[in-house]
Amino acid sequence: MRESMLRQYMYISTAVGIGQSEIDAILSACQRNNQERNVTGLLLYNGRNFLQLLEGEVEDLSWVMRKIEADPRHSGVSIIEDITVSERACPDWLMRHIRIADEVGERRAKLDSELPVNLDSSLRRVILNFASLN
Ligand SMILES: Cc1cc2nc3c(=O)[nH]c(=O)nc-3n(C[C@H](O)[C@H](O)[C@H](O)COP(=O)(O)O)c2cc1C
Repeated sequence: MRESMLRQYMYISTAVGIGQSEIDAILSACQRNNQERNVTGLLLYNGRNFLQLLEGEVEDLSWVMRKIEADPRHSGVSIIEDITVSERACPDWLMRHIRIADEVGERRAKLDSELPVNLDSSLRRVILNFASLN
């Protein structure tokens, strides 16, 4: 389906010591709300920071971002990319949690293979760099 004004937001935030149960709770909120708002994307957590890519129409993204920014589980939410795209990179992921490999040397290659093929190349680079942080 052709969408009028499709955008991708990418933000980073800070959250220390988030466990799997909290990640699961976040993902279940995503199942509820992102489905209803037709928002898709991916989420990475490196133990100190989140990086999330959200894609959808502006009003839907703003609605979801307001909820996310108000969430006390993290702080310092800052949007680092905001672009218009012609199609979604993650049409089938209401929110996909992508795990960062423990082994630093394997991280980039493993993540590169898991990221969507039609992801904007500068967004891809930012995500790969984020995952390289220790
Ligand atoms: C890093 C992070 C990412 C999140 N991403 C989303 C999201 O994509 N969609 C969403 O609805 N909630 C997301 N949440 C959860 C929201 O902050 C909020 O808890 C949730 O939307 C509340 O949903 P409810 O009002 O339906 O209970 C995220 C939270 C965190 C900490």
